[in-house]
Amino acid sequence: MCIDVIVVGLGFGADFAPIYQAHPDVGRVAVVDADPARTAAVADRLGITERFASLDEALAAPGWDAVHLLTPVRFHAEQVLQVLGSGRHCASAVPMATTLTDLDALISAQEDAQRNYMMMETAVYSREFFHAAQLLETGKLGRLTYFKGDHLQNLDGYPDYWRGYPPMHYVTHALSPALALAGTRVESVRCVGSSRLTPDHIGVAGEGFGTEAALFKLAGDDLVANVTMSFFQLGRSYLEGFSVYGDEGALEWPQLEGGPMKEFRMAPLAQNQRGRAVSEFDVEPTGAPELLPAALREFTNGGHGGSHPHLVHEFVSSIVEDRQPRVDPRTAATWTAPGICAHESALQGGTEIQVPDYGARK
Ligand SMILES: NC(=O)c1ccc[n+]([C@@H]2O[C@H](COP(=O)([O-])OP(=O)(O)OC[C@H]3O[C@@H](n4cnc5c(N)ncnc54)[C@H](O)[C@@H]3O)[C@@H](O)[C@H]2O)c1
Repeated sequence: MCIDVIVVGLGFGADFAPIYQAHPDVGRVAVVDADPARTAAVADRLGITERFASLDEALAAPGWDAVHLLTPVRFHAEQVLQVLGSGRHCASAVPMATTLTDLDALISAQEDAQRNYMMMETAVYSREFFHAAQLLETGKLGRLTYFKGDHLQNLDGYPDYWRGYPPMHYVTHALSPALALAGTRVESVRCVGSSRLTPDHIGVAGEGFGTEAALFKLAGDDLVANVTMSFFQLGRSYLEGFSVYGDEGALEWPQLEGGPMKEFRMAPLAQNQRGRAVSEFDVEPTGAPELLPAALREFTNGGHGGSHPHLVHEFVSSIVEDRQPRVDPRTAATWTAPGICAHESALQGGTEIQVPDYGARK
């Protein structure tokens, strides 16, 4: 079975169109962007002849099995509903949505439509995540005991729709690795805002804080994920990653992006010794290109930890194999809602907020 895919939004989307073109289970690829000049430039470069001027026009065309949305965040919820409503499968860039009401609406829409929805979370297909999962599986971390996550990115100069954006509404990259590794959800969150946005940073997306720091209490155990998100007013270079700790070892994201990850292993306590010895070494994770069709492996050299071809392969395979994708709507909501609740907690001065249980598959 071969499926035909429409890629919508050709900023980040320009990285994904060629991966669909190379996928052995994809037939035709079309592109859409609200900016005709961008559509023409990307389509010409990639040799794509099928182009649409808008999502409406694309969905009115007969055929086409699936749509991958890479449009600005404010369109995600309504466009996913539109795509599922048209009877197509839908992949969407993160976040799934920015309100709990929209998360519920998307879960219901997917269940009614019986078409696949996948949130394209890069963090859980990165080479660093594959390495962490392998350390956990092979017992090198021991029992999970703590997580850290950071996403610090200066958004000055980005399109205007980012101005005022609550950092915690974008928490999935920093938090989902912890939830995926622990196989659980967030039960409750306490979050505080740091650095009220100055007037020049306030905009259509909000008027809260430049930085938000949250403690997410995970369900089913006494684990905590400590996550810092910052988009404005933090004089620091880009950092987007996670660290995972167990009672026997740890994997830590580098302080400077691009630097080597550090792995830690604890030795047994020696006699008359205070504190267990810990060895530390650099690791350069390789990812898992063997999980991909041969034609997609070269794309693991791309951004976000080589995750893009894995995301495409999982979305396409889930359709071809007639099964739910790994990041299905309930999993996506489980990873997105904690950030929505965290921002609410920050607005309330740090009160504890319970996070809904979406019953995600383990
Ligand atoms: N690691 C990640 O998962 C990751 C990384 C980067 C971006 N993203 C997400 O991908 C999405 C796109 O990000 P970007 O940086 O390319 O944004 P961008 O604003 O740079 O580009 C968005 C593109 O979509 C087009 N567009 C806007 N509205 C549209 C509409 N209604 N219909 C069709 N096209 C429309 C714009 O013309 C533009 O070309 C965002 O949701 C962002 O959050 C995710």
